[in-house]
Amino acid sequence: MKNRDTDAAWQYHDGTKHSYLSIRTNPHFMDWANRPLLFKIYPKIEPIPLPQDVSQTGVSALSAISTPVNLLRGDAIPSLQDLARILIFSVGITKKRVYPDGENYFRAAACTGALYEIELYVVTSDLPGLEAGVYHFNPGDVSLRLLRKGDFRGNLARAAAMEHAAAHAPATIICTGTYWRNAWKYQARTYRHFGWDNGMQLANMLAVSAASGLPAEIVLGFVDAEVNRLLDLDSRREVSLCLVPIGRTSESPLPAAKEIPALGLETIPLSRSQVEYPAMLQMQEASSLETAEEVREWRDRQPEHSPPSVPSAAAIRLRPLTDEEQPKDSIEQVILRRGSTRRFDRKATITFARLSTILDCATRGLPADFLQPPGAQLNDLYLIAHSVEGLAPGAYFFDRARNSLELLKEGKFRAEAGYLGLQQELSADACVDVFLLADLSGILERFGNRGYRAVQLEAGAIGGRMYIATYTQRLGATGLTFFDDDVIHFFSPHAEGKSAIFLLAIGVPLKRNPPQ
Ligand SMILES: Cc1cc2nc3c(=O)[nH]c(=O)nc-3n(C[C@H](O)[C@H](O)[C@H](O)COP(=O)(O)O)c2cc1C
Repeated sequence: MKNRDTDAAWQYHDGTKHSYLSIRTNPHFMDWANRPLLFKIYPKIEPIPLPQDVSQTGVSALSAISTPVNLLRGDAIPSLQDLARILIFSVGITKKRVYPDGENYFRAAACTGALYEIELYVVTSDLPGLEAGVYHFNPGDVSLRLLRKGDFRGNLARAAAMEHAAAHAPATIICTGTYWRNAWKYQARTYRHFGWDNGMQLANMLAVSAASGLPAEIVLGFVDAEVNRLLDLDSRREVSLCLVPIGRTSESPLPAAKEIPALGLETIPLSRSQVEYPAMLQMQEASSLETAEEVREWRDRQPEHSPPSVPSAAAIRLRPLTDEEQPKDSIEQVILRRGSTRRFDRKATITFARLSTILDCATRGLPADFLQPPGAQLNDLYLIAHSVEGLAPGAYFFDRARNSLELLKEGKFRAEAGYLGLQQELSADACVDVFLLADLSGILERFGNRGYRAVQLEAGAIGGRMYIATYTQRLGATGLTFFDDDVIHFFSPHAEGKSAIFLLAIGVPLKRNPPQ
């Protein structure tokens, strides 16, 4: 079982770290003439347009990201409107910008480089208005395209070793990553971006599903080759990342798994030529699960019992906004207005209550097969606070068990934060920077190389929830990349032995001057 030989994940992680030197010695440049297409296009398959004027749930964004669906009994079957709403508010186009040399489309969820390398597919039973099949979703024309006709949920359930949600869902969304579309700019680091960018979308997907009254969950344990074959992927170029069963049906038994012949469907080439990064293919191969038995064993591995942390004398309890104080903007309104902040106002402050609301709502636990017991979390949050009213500037650890911050060192660290965020002004000008760090050794020990996918994906989803909680409060945020080892050094000795996984800067956007 290759998944257990975790040298592969370490090699990939260490080999794709950013450092002051690596950034300066990398000769890579973006070949604009060879820029990849941002959509996967099947030229020979008729589009099935989805309703674009989907009804909005109106459910408050903060509640949608933090309150699980409580479905005690009964079925929850998504309607075509529900499915369209979930797809559109996860990856749909929300903004168009026109530049002198062309136009760019921005989507519902943030994405490194706005390169949108994650594709969505749907495997469904017969739903009202949609016949059973395997579909690709194209956000460009808001349409589905039928790749295989018939009910293939039995194949998915088998690939996921009868995982409960996957075996009882009327429809499952499958997220895939397309290497080249992101590697054109980020080279081998794209495999990390798969987790971040997919996680961003998952935050939206889970929230909009919950707001639609439909349970949804992230399933990371599945036989890779079976799911890739079902979607007819060329797995040197595009691979399945996770399954998201939507809704629940008591209908049984599930249809038996079917034969899935290769389809060889034509798609428009992304670029004139593509570069393959062996480090990513090796990481994918080494983290693949090969049989249903391996999936079951992977899923059932229990966490090591870690000793409870000692409460710090200086613990500062979060003080989130009360229910009455919380903005009630709906999840759809917030997703539509979100857009990463390009410049923060360095003179602005945010209140501790607002920061507390972001941290509290974003870390209530994700529904995922790898997060057991429910509520578990792989990433730890570390903060550099610059200008938070009621919180001394300094470095903090977020003690999730006690919902409190522990002061690691007091001081003004704008210059350090700017450096850690790859010398970008954004992390220096923000009100607070939130770093996600993880005990990668422990995670790989438990989950093998696939733990690497899990930790990146979870970080992206927590980051996505932080984006939503931030924009609900009309503040601004942006994901950022970072100098890996310097981040650990900054937060040590507390962070010793951990690895840097993710960074989000939060603050007040600087208002642009109106055009003259
Ligand atoms: C994980 C992650 C990392 C990012 N890193 C950077 C960064 O280092 N610098 C930057 O200016 N923007 C960064 N961004 C912001 C993206 O460029 C932005 O999401 C993308 O252009 C899409 O725009 P939108 O978020 O406004 O929809 C990052 C976004 C994500 C999700």
